[in-house]
Amino acid sequence: MKKWSSSLGFILAAAGSAVGLANVWKFPYMAYENGGTFVLIYLLCLLVIGFPLLIGEMLVGKASGKGLFEAFGELGKPLWNNFGYLCILSGVLILGFYCVVGGWCFFYAGSYAMQGMGVAEVPGFGDYTGNGWQQILSTFAFVAVTIGVVMAGVMRGIEQMVRYLMPLLGILLLVFAGYATSKVGFSVVTDQLFTYNPDTLNGETVLKAVGHAFFSLSLGIGAMLVFASYLKEDNIVKAGLWVGVIDTAVALVACFVVIPMVLLIQKQGGQVDEGAGALFVAVPALLSDFAGGNWLNMLFFFLLSCAALTSSVSLFEVVASGLHSRLSPEGDPRKYNWIMGAFVMVLALITSLSVGANESISKLNLFTHFDDAVTLYLLPLGGLLIAIFVGWLMPESIIKQHFGKRAIYPVWRGIIRYVTPLAMGLILLQSFL
Ligand code: TRP
Repeated sequence: MKKWSSSLGFILAAAGSAVGLANVWKFPYMAYENGGTFVLIYLLCLLVIGFPLLIGEMLVGKASGKGLFEAFGELGKPLWNNFGYLCILSGVLILGFYCVVGGWCFFYAGSYAMQGMGVAEVPGFGDYTGNGWQQILSTFAFVAVTIGVVMAGVMRGIEQMVRYLMPLLGILLLVFAGYATSKVGFSVVTDQLFTYNPDTLNGETVLKAVGHAFFSLSLGIGAMLVFASYLKEDNIVKAGLWVGVIDTAVALVACFVVIPMVLLIQKQGGQVDEGAGALFVAVPALLSDFAGGNWLNMLFFFLLSCAALTSSVSLFEVVASGLHSRLSPEGDPRKYNWIMGAFVMVLALITSLSVGANESISKLNLFTHFDDAVTLYLLPLGGLLIAIFVGWLMPESIIKQHFGKRAIYPVWRGIIRYVTPLAMGLILLQSFL
């Protein structure tokens, strides 16, 4: 059985799964579109829902030592093993659109390298997403590399990649953020990012904030459960807090890169697609000031591709290993990697054409629907179930054994038993009304 070589290795791998496109690509444009109210609610959601559940989900994995379809049974509730089906559904849907955005990062890294060498020009974001062949090629490449990394043996790959490349991405983001923010002024960005406006406080904003907290922390889908099942030592609380802090820090720093550039481009009368394209417009605009801009763009999108890969690999692993353990635990796991790989490939390729390249597929709006179905409904539902299980069904003696002696235990327990399920239940309920 595989075990993490060190608790640092575990924290880095879990952080590698959590930090990804949700932080750098999605959070800044959501923060821009939905404003300070969304950001503040997001931070609140992290405190009362995200962090406690992160620890809760890790507890189930750590205490059982088992993955999806087995962990809950091991803890005395076999019926709950069916939770695995929800995780597989969520995982496949996430991969369906996540791999498309991963492909965009691949494409931008590659085409800035070509532009740097003077052999090709980088197309604008709209032209690129409207080009069917380019979409298909990018997405194909990203899915293929994801499957390749899984096949080659995940753990080493993930640990090594995260250890060296992710700090570099962090530094690059910080430098970009400093430079971008200096162009418009710090307070302009913080006003945009943190100003609370009661008029925009409604059920939809809350649901979006909660959903994004789940998506960003890789929660509600069994990923953290599976990760923690490989964990030897009792450091769940520390690991959970580290993962949460790193994830949030990266998301906030990314806002200071994207938002100033979007504001600046608009001030200059330029058109910017504030939605899914914001990052892909903002960073090149920022770097156009520099002589070596092509290579900096390449480096940035290369590192972001790696961040996206650590997430997609971990997602893929969760889904494929879940399927394997459900259908034939004795059988060859590679078979399930192939089956899942083929399925995800087809789904992602179709989705890649739904951002403008093919008219009838774009009308179906698959990209947005997959994203919404998962972040607004399936992940929060998964989180609610985990909170109920950990708060009410899992024997407290086992929890205490793995939680360790910590002063925050009673606070955490109160939150996961009452606050989290109640908040999640209400949020989900109102979204259906
Ligand atoms: N958190 C990842 C990101 O920020 C995306 C993600 C959501 C994920 N759920 C996951 C990754 C489960 C791995 C496992 O990009």
